[in-house]
Amino acid sequence: MSLARSTRLHKPVRLGPLRLTPFQIGVHLAALGPLLLLVSDLLGGRLSVNPIQDLTFRTGKTAMVLLLLSLACTPAATWLGFRPALKVRRALGLYAFVYAALHFFIYLGVDYGFDLHLVGLELAEKRYVLVGFAAFLLLVPLAITSTQGWQRRLGRRWKRLHKAVYPAAVLVMFHYIWVQKADIRQPLAFSAVLLLLFILRLPALRRWAAAHPFRSWRRREARTPLRKEP
Ligand code: HEM
Repeated sequence: MSLARSTRLHKPVRLGPLRLTPFQIGVHLAALGPLLLLVSDLLGGRLSVNPIQDLTFRTGKTAMVLLLLSLACTPAATWLGFRPALKVRRALGLYAFVYAALHFFIYLGVDYGFDLHLVGLELAEKRYVLVGFAAFLLLVPLAITSTQGWQRRLGRRWKRLHKAVYPAAVLVMFHYIWVQKADIRQPLAFSAVLLLLFILRLPALRRWAAAHPFRSWRRREARTPLRKEP
């Protein structure tokens, strides 16, 4: 993409009280897309013969993909110099949480009719439910404290708290692997992506990336230090 086009893509436009870049708008639309499609398929009777499982799978998968994308934002900035990724990191994390909450609600409310006794039995019996639940519990405080107000209030502790996203993502991968009854190729592929994202965060590798800007535009970006954004 030419520099002019990419600059236009990252120039904020006013949307009522919000100032968003076309890139940010695109990310919001892309994150809302699966939900709109789900509602449209639900209302149009286009779900599979097992609609509850369909809803559970689709919300779970979207939550997991968005979580990975939110984790990919920092490597995209440090390795590729793609700073706009930092501006959508929080939104992607929040969308991941919204889909995970929907996923949980469908399981708890629609599938199990809020029968906490039955859900308790499932938690004790099925390891994938247990790790999914643990991942969800880890994501709750992150979603609550994702605002700039909480970031200011918590100071240094905010960063430490938000590191919980990594164990949460690992638990999600175990959840995904254990959910599958036979073919675990897809969950393994997503787990490999998570592993790669972890590797790209290793301080030694990040230092190496900073010293070896491998693209001209990466070199330009590398001159300005990364701004800490939520
Ligand atoms: C709150 C606790 C959670 C519960 C009770 C739960 C429950 C479930 C259930 C029942 C299934 C379908 C299993 C089947 O029908 O065979 C499932 C699948 C899945 N869940 Fe969860 N889940 C939870 C949390 C999460 C979270 C936090 C994520 C991601 C952020 C997630 C991602 C997934 C994925 C990716 C699948 C498989 C989808 C597919 O195969 O297409 N789950 N979960």
